[in-house]
Amino acid sequence: MRIHGAKNSVLKLMAACTLAEGTFVLHNVPDITDVDVMIRLLASMGMRVTRPGPDQLEIVNPGGLTPEAPYDLVEAMRASIVVMGPLLAVYGEARVAMPGGDDFGPRPIDMHLRGLELLGARFESAHGYIRAHAELLQGARVLLEFPSVGATENVMMAAVLAKGDTVIENAAREPEIADLAAFLNRMGANILGAGTSTVAISGVERLVPVEHSVVPDRIEAATYVAAVGIAGGEVTLVGARPDHMDMLCQKVGEMGMRTSADPDGLWVMANRRLHSVDLATLPYPGLATDYKPFLISLLALADGVGIVTENIFSGRFRYIDELVRMGADIRTEGHHAVVRGCERLSGAPVRAHDIRAGAALVIAGLRADGETEVRDPHHIDRGYEDFVGNLAAIGADVERLT
Ligand code: EPU
Repeated sequence: MRIHGAKNSVLKLMAACTLAEGTFVLHNVPDITDVDVMIRLLASMGMRVTRPGPDQLEIVNPGGLTPEAPYDLVEAMRASIVVMGPLLAVYGEARVAMPGGDDFGPRPIDMHLRGLELLGARFESAHGYIRAHAELLQGARVLLEFPSVGATENVMMAAVLAKGDTVIENAAREPEIADLAAFLNRMGANILGAGTSTVAISGVERLVPVEHSVVPDRIEAATYVAAVGIAGGEVTLVGARPDHMDMLCQKVGEMGMRTSADPDGLWVMANRRLHSVDLATLPYPGLATDYKPFLISLLALADGVGIVTENIFSGRFRYIDELVRMGADIRTEGHHAVVRGCERLSGAPVRAHDIRAGAALVIAGLRADGETEVRDPHHIDRGYEDFVGNLAAIGADVERLT
């Protein structure tokens, strides 16, 4: 099965196209609705985006953009806020709708704002919008309270055109951050250390448009790893980067799966019922919070009891109620969940509340008696290209009803 480009990288690369005038080409772009939302956002600012071929985007930045992210688009996709840093860097101003909370609980952007403030930006908020100004962005030391992915990206994209040097400490280390830095460096930026906790950026005068291939999606790949763990069998995830999924491979290995790096990607196999383990989510290279819903589906069917601790998003347990409707034995207490594995689940109508939860319910349905109907599949479409087709291609009995 082929793994597509990473949602959480391509959205930021698209935002970074606001930084230079001219024509960019992105390859390995997944056909997902979050990319469509980002296309609408870029278009609303005055850019032209087309899909010249499968998996490709051509993005034309004619300059003179309207530096604004309207509420309907930020509400549809909170990742839209990553345009703030680059717009400030180019236009000295940005007007971005304030994102609300979501199914994970409150999701503040205080670290984004504090980081940009240290570079010289000023903010006012009124009528649900944040208005940012900066006469001159000046490099600074930005110590993040938590290695926030979005804050690291926003500050990095502002700093590339700031005057002087910026150092981001306690930066997020996700592979998607390294991909964004590689893209920016190819554009002419001067960034060192992306992918580690300390990122050093020397501001440059101008950037140029480039061509780039998006890093493979480790979260999409993890979803299919879990599908194999639940259904049994063996699959090669072509294009997956095992080196970006070390902790996941270690955990599913402890549960009894076999994984190995393959010249094509990642090979995974499960030939017996898995056993339970405890797990805790942490920033990269720890176990990603995004993997957790799939791992809970695995634990719900494993032999034994596993304790899951969520350390990134306090409210990211909501889909457990849906899994319980399918017969899973799970109790939550604060940010912990105790999962007692059972032999089989029981197919039921359930609702997807977010991208990963939706995917986790579908794969749980692979070992549930009878039919599982996952409602609101549009959440899954936000992050997965042809999820149903991919699962069907490796033998799942799954179809799209709407
Ligand atoms: N946080 C703050 N203040 C901030 C920023 C973050 O308190 O200013 C907190 C958050 O509330 C959260 C923690 O810090 O508790 C980490 O948030 P982070 O900023 O790292 O997350 P994000 O950038 O909003 C990205 C991904 C998420 C993924 C997290 C993992 C994108 C578009 N989203 O979100 O992916 O779960 O990193 O840290 O890159 C998904 O793909 O479905 C998804 C939700």
